[in-house]
Amino acid sequence: MSSAPRQSDTPRARRRPSARGLSAAALALGLSFVGLAACGSGDATPQDPDAPPSARELFLANCARCHGRTGEGSFMAPTLAGVEQHWDVERLQRYLRDPEKVIAQDERLEKQGRKYTSRMPTFQHLSPDERRALAQWVLDGRP
Ligand code: HEC
Repeated sequence: MSSAPRQSDTPRARRRPSARGLSAAALALGLSFVGLAACGSGDATPQDPDAPPSARELFLANCARCHGRTGEGSFMAPTLAGVEQHWDVERLQRYLRDPEKVIAQDERLEKQGRKYTSRMPTFQHLSPDERRALAQWVLDGRP
């Protein structure tokens, strides 16, 4: 066999890299435990910086590319600061499911929407619970 170890490979020299690999694996494992601990900790009040990871993660995954990581807005979408003046959870949930329908019934939104080249997309791929969590979280001022 051509791949048989050469005589000159001392056991010591061959063991080293795998030991390093092992400690990297241990480190990765340790980090994932830290991550788990962080998820489980804290009382998840909406004002908490450790706010419900699910809602925040949903926001970062679905909304941040247009509204910005903290909802500050961008050329793609308006700021979310102060949106709680215009929305309640029920209505915002409906908006996330079918924005065009809500926009068509709201002069402010219709006017505002003309400033942006892209539209507010639908989020029908999210579950009703996820849309609710997201709506609640956005209105609690934590984008
Ligand atoms: C492709 C870019 C884009 C993404 C992604 C996006 N939005 Fe929007 N969003 C918009 C645009 C454009 C508007 C303005 C629509 C209008 O005013 O007619 C808007 C409007 C809004 C408004 C109304 C703002 C107001 O002034 O009342 C809310 C609330 C909102 N988005 C929340 C979200 C949430 C939550 C997500 C993620 C689930 C999200 N958006 C994802 C583009 C986006």
